[in-house]
Amino acid sequence: MAKASVSYSCSECGAQTSKWAGRCEACGAWNTITEDTPLSAGPASNSLGASRGRTIPLSDLSTHEAPPPRTSAGVEELDRVLGGGLVPASAILVGGDPGIGKSTLLLQAAARFARSGLKTIYISGEEASAQVRMRAQRLGLTESPVMLAAETNLRDILTTLEAERPQLAIIDSIQTMWSDQVGSAPGSVSQVRAAAHELTTFAKRRGVAVILVGHVTKDGQIAGPRVVEHMVDTVLYFEGERGHQFRILRAVKNRFGPADEIGVFEMTGRGLVQVSNPSALFLSERGDAVPGSAVFAGIEGTRPVLVEMQALVAPSTLSQPRRAVVGWDGGRLAMILAVLESRCGVPFAGLDVYLNVAGGMKISEPAADLAVAAALLSAREDVSLPEGAVVFGEISLSGALRPVAQTENRLKEARKLGFSQALLPAGSKGEAAELGLRKMRDLAGFVSEMFGTD
Ligand code: TYD
Ligand code: MG
Repeated sequence: MAKASVSYSCSECGAQTSKWAGRCEACGAWNTITEDTPLSAGPASNSLGASRGRTIPLSDLSTHEAPPPRTSAGVEELDRVLGGGLVPASAILVGGDPGIGKSTLLLQAAARFARSGLKTIYISGEEASAQVRMRAQRLGLTESPVMLAAETNLRDILTTLEAERPQLAIIDSIQTMWSDQVGSAPGSVSQVRAAAHELTTFAKRRGVAVILVGHVTKDGQIAGPRVVEHMVDTVLYFEGERGHQFRILRAVKNRFGPADEIGVFEMTGRGLVQVSNPSALFLSERGDAVPGSAVFAGIEGTRPVLVEMQALVAPSTLSQPRRAVVGWDGGRLAMILAVLESRCGVPFAGLDVYLNVAGGMKISEPAADLAVAAALLSAREDVSLPEGAVVFGEISLSGALRPVAQTENRLKEARKLGFSQALLPAGSKGEAAELGLRKMRDLAGFVSEMFGTD
């Protein structure tokens, strides 16, 4: 029989190689290459004796009833991110920094789902059952019909699940689980991959929904197991700044619902509380219009969210002035500064530029371009933007302003929160009666209208 080929993978980025090396060629990390253990030996690939898979015509499926019923947690912010509730027998990965509140969120979710009638088991590999119970006490959840287990051995967990037959199993965290069939240490790529594979296949076979918790490394990848992302149906990230009490649960992949949907929570002394009106929260710390501040009317998933963009521009003592960004893309900031400089004649050379999205939000929409430019210009000219104005629009390299999707929804949200006017690109579709619309064709026009320079 042919010798099974040996492969190696990096525990940082998951890159695979055919030979061992001291340094990973893909991510540059040292001493991270370890030998992989195959998931199962399986039958020889050229065997004709293997059992034949069953196929069914696609047309036959149409006679089946509607999609499986979802279970609602009764927490709107969570249900929305899941695509309208928990899908039976689905596998979900919840990633986030250590200490951000994943265990808290999932214990609260477990209690909710258990109360909605799902048989729920919460398996902790990080805390003893007594510690989980103490946390539950603090959260006021001791009466919930959730079953607890403190377990890290995969075989024991699968046996427990087989015996208990829950409808929802929460595994906290995937990095602490280990299979005795894999030689490497818990937390290594091969262990995480094996554990995730076993648990997700078990879930599909037995009709159990599983939620896997995964810790993330500093560079934003779930430690090693990026590999888990494609094994599961839904990938959620729990994000937020340490100093802030706001937490955002973001769907980055969802086979059963829209991606990019967000749920907003606030961390309090008694756990996470949902925030149903995030715009009001993100703008709550904002006083009167000040130079360097612009309110962006954004869309997160299916929902409009208003956030404040803050900029500070100061003379630099460095030969290479600083460009510091929190919550927005650094490359995109460089592009907007270049457009301002070459298309509108507003130089930023010799000036340090700081940009911050208030409330710990991360914005990735190009529609925020104009709000960023407005905040930068307002900071540089030391002139505030008009009181009660929201800003949005995409900026092209030519300096032209491009209309963006869902203008009407953005305007509606602005009106709901008491804004009186909107600065937006010419050609935008929205018609909001009670909102003054100032439409502009290009960035140079925006500069001269708002700041009278040029
Ligand atoms: P935790 O859920 O343990 O984080 P993770 O599982 O992502 O590592 O959350 C830990 C933090 O949350 C900790 O710093 C304390 C804080 N916290 C509260 O502020 N209020 C609470 O009710 C609880 C349970 C935790
Ligand atoms: Mg935890």
